[in-house]
Amino acid sequence: MNTTTQPPDPDPQRNLALELVRATEAAAINCSRYLGYGDANRVDAAAVDAMRPVLGTVHMNGIVVIGEGEKDEAPMLYNGERVGDGVGEEWDIAVDPVDGTALTAKSLPDAVSIIGVAPRGTMYSPGPAVYMRKLVVAEHLATGIELNAPIADTLHKIAAATDRTVSELTVAVLDRPRHDQLVAEIRAAGARIRFLLDGDVVGAIMAVTPGTGVDLLVGTGGTPEGVLAACALRCLGGKFLGQLIARDDEEERAILNAGYSLERILTTTDLVSGDNVFFAATGVTDGSLLKGVRFESHRIITDSLSMRSRSGTVRRIESRHDPERSTLVNF
Ligand code: FBP
Repeated sequence: MNTTTQPPDPDPQRNLALELVRATEAAAINCSRYLGYGDANRVDAAAVDAMRPVLGTVHMNGIVVIGEGEKDEAPMLYNGERVGDGVGEEWDIAVDPVDGTALTAKSLPDAVSIIGVAPRGTMYSPGPAVYMRKLVVAEHLATGIELNAPIADTLHKIAAATDRTVSELTVAVLDRPRHDQLVAEIRAAGARIRFLLDGDVVGAIMAVTPGTGVDLLVGTGGTPEGVLAACALRCLGGKFLGQLIARDDEEERAILNAGYSLERILTTTDLVSGDNVFFAATGVTDGSLLKGVRFESHRIITDSLSMRSRSGTVRRIESRHDPERSTLVNF
């Protein structure tokens, strides 16, 4: 008798994102109870507490590549943790139970709960690199766009490609002092700026989604969020360019000693190379992309995105949850 257990062949029809969206819904519902409480840690803990058990029910052998941090610091969804029922196909998992914990704590827009999944070994692990420079632009505007070109040149290329003037373009940038020079250059070029208080995954999705009013995302943000944005872009299309940066000499040594380059320009497929990528996100607070969680009489409404790279299907899912019967509620 042959007792060797081989992982079953991936089911080409299976859309994991439809299962993952239950986990982002649970996280969004649970953490949005702390909307406006002013406690970002509580928001994060509530999202993790709800996301973890739902992920555990998904039929997959997943390993967290982008998580809440290393095991000693994060009790759940830590990097290297196994998630899913442990059976079947192997997957790399990226989670951000809330991108925008502070936004939720202060009831500001655009906080979302996010999961990205890719075949095992195809997701970039950023190691000790906390931040990266980023540029995100729609596919049809991407020709000739480079991360290290002067921002004015980039804006002129995008304006020419869309038959607009630079003054008609809008650039999304995280509102941070480190971007003062970049912001000054964008203003000098004449473009408009959409400041993001937090949450550059949403900013990246907006940059590649028609009708959001954002033409480009630039600036420095979290490396984990860069990988999650790349998961989304594998499904939606669009160009992501990134470059790891070090905040100080010690971090630079740690990054270089771990074998990473600070020179290399990372593209969407460098960050997520697999050809079967899934992405799910649920709105926590009302935002430009998704509505936040609404608590109504005997029902809770969530608004989510569920997408898959292989098919290119992008679903917008409004769900009604029964607070008495749903297993996604009350963690
Ligand atoms: P969290 O809510 O998960 O803490 O992250 C929010 C965020 O704004 C990310 O979207 C972004 O990439 C990163 O933080 C930027 O880091 P910083 O706030 O340190 O500038």
